[in-house]
Amino acid sequence: MVSEDEIRKQICEIGKRMYDRNMVAANDGNISVKISDNEILCTPTGVSKGFLSPGDLCKVDTKGNVIQTNSGRMPSSEMKMHLRVYEERPDVKAVVHAHPVYATTFAVANIPLSQPIMPETVINFGCVPIAKYGRPSTMEIPDAVSEFVSYFDAVLLEKHGALTYSDSLEAAYMKMESVEFYAQLLYQSKLLGVPRELTPGQMEELYELRRQSGMQGRHPANLGEPADACRFHCANCGRKCEKGD
Ligand code: 13P
Repeated sequence: MVSEDEIRKQICEIGKRMYDRNMVAANDGNISVKISDNEILCTPTGVSKGFLSPGDLCKVDTKGNVIQTNSGRMPSSEMKMHLRVYEERPDVKAVVHAHPVYATTFAVANIPLSQPIMPETVINFGCVPIAKYGRPSTMEIPDAVSEFVSYFDAVLLEKHGALTYSDSLEAAYMKMESVEFYAQLLYQSKLLGVPRELTPGQMEELYELRRQSGMQGRHPANLGEPADACRFHCANCGRKCEKGD
């Protein structure tokens, strides 16, 4: 089992990777890791994620009560959003929130990442929906995110940024990198003209590949057969997410 000290170091390293890749400006973004049934380590509020020390991190319980802090640090102002993800997804052990430039550009334009333009993005995400705008640090964001948490491992936050989560911190962070790559690719292919999309049939083949590979996490491919997959099945939903249904 990985020790708490080791997880504290990992959080600082991932914070630096986010900062070095321009996924967070100034003090933006936050990271948390669930270390036991009732204990969560998280980044403090108002501190650059590029220069964290293990002792800067805060520990809270699953209700958000502070268990431990140092040097007057307080937990991230977005912990309500993180806690909602842990509450609704018992499989999740780490949550990452950032403001990567391309993903946030789509969030600002209110355009979900739903165009199937590349096999890896289809296999990784199917699509990345947008949770409705909410004021930072309020319950409005967790309430908006809740609609998608059970079905996806990555969500854009309207006018704000991106949220990813997984069964390990490394995996949650990798999803953030992949969301940003998808957004940059979509943005740049739009500049060249209308991106050529994979067909619904090709998407189905990729969904089948994902199912056969046994990949962890939530994805439209695992919602069931297309007939009962309803609005979240991007291969046949007619882009209802883009129309706001
Ligand atoms: P915190 O510093 O409180 O974690 O907030 C940063 C942020 O990005 C809010 O969306």
